[in-house]
Amino acid sequence: MTSDKTVTVEIALIGMGTVGTAVARVLLQEPHRMDRRSGSTLHLKRIVVNDIGKARNVEVPAGLITDRIDDVLEDPDITLAIQLIGGLSPAKELMMALLDAGKDIVTANKALLADEGMELFSHARQRGRTIAFEGAVAGGIPIVNAMLQGLAANEITQFSAILNGTSNFILTEMAVCEQEYAAVLKRAQDEGYAEADPALDINGTDAAQKLGILSQLAFGIKWNSEVIFRQGIESIELTDLQFADEFGYTVKSLAVARRSASSSGGPSQVLELYVAPTLVPHNNPLARVSGAYNAVRVEGDLVGDTLYYGQGAGAKPTASAVLADVIETVTGRAGVTFPQLLCTEYGENILLLNPEQSRSRFYFRFMVEDRPGVLGDIAGVLGEHDISIASVIQPEFCGPSRNQAVPLVIMTHIVRTGDVMEALKRIDQLAVIHEPSRSMRVM
Ligand code: HSE
Repeated sequence: MTSDKTVTVEIALIGMGTVGTAVARVLLQEPHRMDRRSGSTLHLKRIVVNDIGKARNVEVPAGLITDRIDDVLEDPDITLAIQLIGGLSPAKELMMALLDAGKDIVTANKALLADEGMELFSHARQRGRTIAFEGAVAGGIPIVNAMLQGLAANEITQFSAILNGTSNFILTEMAVCEQEYAAVLKRAQDEGYAEADPALDINGTDAAQKLGILSQLAFGIKWNSEVIFRQGIESIELTDLQFADEFGYTVKSLAVARRSASSSGGPSQVLELYVAPTLVPHNNPLARVSGAYNAVRVEGDLVGDTLYYGQGAGAKPTASAVLADVIETVTGRAGVTFPQLLCTEYGENILLLNPEQSRSRFYFRFMVEDRPGVLGDIAGVLGEHDISIASVIQPEFCGPSRNQAVPLVIMTHIVRTGDVMEALKRIDQLAVIHEPSRSMRVM
């Protein structure tokens, strides 16, 4: 029902998957909630789907659903499109066409913004339109808003985050239930926590895309997220989580961005970006983020350390972010903040750190023959690559040994990643090594 007293904003929803359905439910069934908070009457005029015959989990008034995008593009009354189609194509062409047709956009498509965001943002600006995308990063956590508004006066120096709920759920369940990766993944899929094809979640790509978007906001980078180094969680074994725990750490898939001044000529700033399983000290708040939850720890030069926590995926948490963007757009606030996006001065003046140059402490696990001289052989190679050992564990008994191999676990001091890669390559060729070595960064 519309009111004569307020402006009516005609909205289109494009895509009606789980998030789209949750968004439609609020717009259709709880209009007053949105109207009160936006100061306008919001009217969902069209829902564009692929299959208009498909049963929906929300009651939709007759005539609202269409499979023709032209019903939106050619309707001048529709000024706002909630674009919930994933992937790069045709989502990009669709966004361009919506902007050309004069629509503001709200989207949760992280892959598209991570890789084509600059072009889309510039296209929107040229047409005087806005793109709001809180739902693209960390689901219900208002981290985009925090970066753009709450922390606007800060120089962001670094952030570290848990941005993929599936990986975090798997690592948490492995540790709590003492199960191996494959068993937990299967259970997560059976229970609907993980996608049927979870590859992009567990190999770090999903988190790298979200890290790319946050880094665009914090540092003005214009790189495609493919340049971000990523390491998945597929080869982590339960024993690694248990050794990490003995050393006082919890293993988390961390997405990290760290800016520092460059010591060489050229760009004045260097940015380190990576997604990798990392040993996080038990007393770091990120170590206590469990299950499918996400968290982002941001450090600004004025504010210091800040932490944002919540559900990073799922229908309702993501709908929370998408609908907040609808309110931002309708009230005109997005029209003010969007042109200011990427106002950080780094932009052209920042260089991506080569992952080999990155420095960190490391955890290594070698499966070795239990005989004299093995530790010396390994320590010798590490020493030749300038890798200093901080501590070593070789448990006397650690369950049945695999092919007569026993684990040898080493923690290093801060070392160069390129040196680690070279050393591990050499160590893996030693006759006393029974399996490829495992390595993880230590926070
Ligand atoms: N599949 C993602 C996750 C949520 O597991 O966190 C959507 O980006």
